Amino acid sequence: MARKSVHGQWSSRLAFILAATGSAVGLGNIWKFPYVTGENGGGAFVLVYILCVACVGLPIMVAEILIGRRGRQNPMDSMGSLARDDGCSPHWQWVGLMGVFAGFLILSFYSVIAGWAVAYFFRAATGLFRGVTATSSKQIFQRMIADPERLIAWHTAFLAMTMFITARGVASGLERASKIMMPALFVILLIMVGYGLHAGDAQRAIDFLFRADFHRLSAAGVLEAMGQAFFSLSLGMGAIMIYGSYLPAGISITRSALVVAVSDTVVALLAGLAIFPVVFSQHLHVGSGPGLIFVTLPIAFGHMPYGALFGALFFLLLVFAAWTSAISLMEPPVTWLVERHRMSRFGATLFTGGVVWVLGLGTVFSFNLWSGVTLWHMTFFDAVDNLTSNIMLPLGGFAISVFAAGVMARESSAQELQAAPTVYRVWRFLARFVAPAAVALVFLNAIGVLRFR
Ligand code: TRP
Repeated sequence: MARKSVHGQWSSRLAFILAATGSAVGLGNIWKFPYVTGENGGGAFVLVYILCVACVGLPIMVAEILIGRRGRQNPMDSMGSLARDDGCSPHWQWVGLMGVFAGFLILSFYSVIAGWAVAYFFRAATGLFRGVTATSSKQIFQRMIADPERLIAWHTAFLAMTMFITARGVASGLERASKIMMPALFVILLIMVGYGLHAGDAQRAIDFLFRADFHRLSAAGVLEAMGQAFFSLSLGMGAIMIYGSYLPAGISITRSALVVAVSDTVVALLAGLAIFPVVFSQHLHVGSGPGLIFVTLPIAFGHMPYGALFGALFFLLLVFAAWTSAISLMEPPVTWLVERHRMSRFGATLFTGGVVWVLGLGTVFSFNLWSGVTLWHMTFFDAVDNLTSNIMLPLGGFAISVFAAGVMARESSAQELQAAPTVYRVWRFLARFVAPAAVALVFLNAIGVLRFR
């Protein structure tokens, strides 16, 4: 029964945990989490977010790893063959295929935004932000996104970095990259938190993040917390599933998933502890949306002791985080091309990279040439972001969790999970009922059936 992955295996439990945490920790934690927390009033949002991670994210993560390790193939064929093993409809494979397409789409805009982080690393390091004002910081950012050539150059550079790792394979590419970058990321993050708490306004930041004031949280904010949990944990499209397919037998799935989910959440909170003290100390606004990191933060660093050094370190952290996430987004399409279309890993990487590069141009132009071209008030970038984060990921997560906990035979999931009976029962209950119901709520909200104010 035990299959082997044709792509390789992680060398240890730690290797899997570092790689999966690398996938989870990304722009979602360091760029997005602080600004959505800022927009949703702080502590109460954080509390709801943590609940979503525990009751929805964690069970779905376990479901993905379980399917991956048992199927040992790309998401489409893993789901197809597990369905056939247990005498269910092979149509479940289309869930896996949707994940493959989501991989192309998400990476196309992820790479463009990650390109900004690379650009900002060089800007911070060369001292460009010294003494910047609110106006000049905004100008620097707007001048960058208004220039398609510059955005294309950074998008190309970041994508090339990602393809370089992917092409090298699981052991000497993915595993080695995570083993170097994740510890470095953690150390830099701790330095940044130390700097923030020391040089910034620590008390206000801690109050903001940890004092729950439910009056400032709307129903829409609750749903946003759930969407954020999904994206941040890399769920719903088979990225964690593929990482599970490289997991050796005999390693506890539940315990590994717990470590990954906790680390991801801790990193998001630490990112908040690094950013908010700095922002508060310069009396800047925390609810400034997506520009929090690229517009507000440079102003703060520009006025602080050793700001150029710590600013550069901060953007290096962001680049590492985005890099290890991007390689996980590349994995479902690449393994699918290798197994289904008999490509070499190198060829599959080039092909995926090419498609992603072209799709990425749509995001690049959304900020300049095509900024006036909208469909239902969305630019190309907004449309791809919405289609993937609000529709494909929730649908995928819903189907994955129903499949693992409701469709696959109980013996199969129990045998793969090898967990204590109570743990198994709790997982199955959460993955079968709680997670799908919660995801359905987010989904209905996203497509506008339910309208919360
Ligand atoms: N989790 C990553 C982040 O927080 C992004 C990411 C990587 C992702 N792989 C994914 C999101 C798969 C959804 C699905 O930035």
